[in-house]
Amino acid sequence: MEQTLAILKPDCVRRGLIGEVIRRIEAAGFRIRAMKMVHLTKKEAEGFYAVHRGRPFFEELTTFMSSGPCVPMVLEKENAVADFRALIGATDPAEAAEGTIRREFAESKGQNIVHGSDSVENARIEIHFFFPSIELVDRR
Ligand code: CMP
Repeated sequence: MEQTLAILKPDCVRRGLIGEVIRRIEAAGFRIRAMKMVHLTKKEAEGFYAVHRGRPFFEELTTFMSSGPCVPMVLEKENAVADFRALIGATDPAEAAEGTIRREFAESKGQNIVHGSDSVENARIEIHFFFPSIELVDRR
């Protein structure tokens, strides 16, 4: 079964939206296989988003992602990577489809509530960034 990494970002936590976003994730058929709350340091955020180093938004992104606790989770479902990206909508909430999580809750491209891996390969890398194998639930 395919897995993806989701992060409920610091704006989601700060605005009290953890429950509502998880409700939508579960209602869409995803099973939560791992989950925790962590407050990333700036260096850890830079490590997670290393592929974006050099982009104009890198400083803003890593400052924001280390500004408060976030909730990384491993989600499982058939076609999890693509289906999760469809559930959350486009990076920019103004461009996100009606009914998507970002369209409903996100305030900007930067503060956009939730992250989802963009490929199966990146999902594997991102899952291991946050979760050692002992924290990954494998019971049905
Ligand atoms: P995410 O899915 O976490 O992956 C990279 C993040 O960079 C993305 O969500 C956005 O929050 C952020 N991002 C992408 N483009 C911009 C931008 N133009 N300005 C600010 N943040 C951006």
